[in-house]
Amino acid sequence: MPAPVRFELLGVDTRSNARRGLLRTPHGTVETPVFMPVGTQATVKGVVPELLRACGSQMLLANTYHLALRPGEEVVRSLGGLHRFMAWDGPILTDSGGFQAFSLSDRATLTESGVAFRSHLDGSLLDLTPERAIAIQEALGADVAMVLDHCPALPAGKEAVAEATERTIRWARRCQRARTRDDQAVFGILQGGSHADLRSECAERLVEIGFDGYAIGGVSVGESPEEIRKALEVSTPHLPAHQARYLMGVGRPQDVLDAIAAGVDMFDCVLPTRNGRNATCLTRRGPVRMRNAAHKADPRPIEDGCDCPACSRFSRGYIRHLFLADEMLGPILASVHNLAFLHRLVRDAREAIGEGRYDRFRAEALEALGP
Ligand code: GUN
Ligand code: ZN
Repeated sequence: MPAPVRFELLGVDTRSNARRGLLRTPHGTVETPVFMPVGTQATVKGVVPELLRACGSQMLLANTYHLALRPGEEVVRSLGGLHRFMAWDGPILTDSGGFQAFSLSDRATLTESGVAFRSHLDGSLLDLTPERAIAIQEALGADVAMVLDHCPALPAGKEAVAEATERTIRWARRCQRARTRDDQAVFGILQGGSHADLRSECAERLVEIGFDGYAIGGVSVGESPEEIRKALEVSTPHLPAHQARYLMGVGRPQDVLDAIAAGVDMFDCVLPTRNGRNATCLTRRGPVRMRNAAHKADPRPIEDGCDCPACSRFSRGYIRHLFLADEMLGPILASVHNLAFLHRLVRDAREAIGEGRYDRFRAEALEALGP
């Protein structure tokens, strides 16, 4: 049986660990490094599929916890699966719900069996075991599913991180045993905080179980760029070179550039769409706040030289007006530009890696972005 999702390593940069690759899935091939917009509830907020394509999106992320609660995975399945349901025919990855045990911790009870959630919608119970997380994701039908993991809340003592890491490994094994679909990949998730021994142990045990790709989890929980770097440094050397590596929940441009240098292939983050809804736009020279009075009669686009659907037609003055008038097109255009910005950043990174000049590209991009 051929693997449903195969990663092909095209090349590694000469002066860093940056890699270019192809991720082949049942819904098309993705060029890596790739940034995946977040569509938690089977929609990237405010952005229709045509616009996602137009701003360079290749692959999307959706969430098991949210879709299991509403509308329910059986509804999605009966409406043709997640791709048909949300009218996105490209690759999709679903996160397992493990992270919601962290981000919605006041609604979650964690035991060896799994995570019991009290729904944020109506208080009903969702018992998310590793087996159930896989069953829900199989019903949703994404190209890539994630194992259920335990992401410890920070600050956590090493003992607590070690326990979460051990549990993550046990749950990963249960997820692997629960699989019934041969057209869906499953990625393992590394935990272990910034502890080198826990990260390497976790990586080795997950690789023994054998997944289609590996994610680095537990790093978008409010730590510093330095801590993200450390977690990557102690994780990536233990991962197979010929399989995809996915850094979960990271999308700050500076962090993405660092992670690519460390050998990461895939990213997701709410940052471009969340910032867009808040009128903050990403540019090469750092963030621009669209509500600022300075843009009142500014004829320039959000970012000079950007060919995205927002910048190709609309001025800063117009977009500022939309935000002040509370018009929904404001958040839409800002989200579209921000997605285009991140997609362009990783596309330029791919090109630089291909030409063996990623180090210089990264240094120049970081210099322009500022702190
Ligand atoms: N998204 C961001 N971080 C994580 C993590 O550690 N685990 C999961 N499942 N999703 C994430
Ligand atoms: Zn733009």
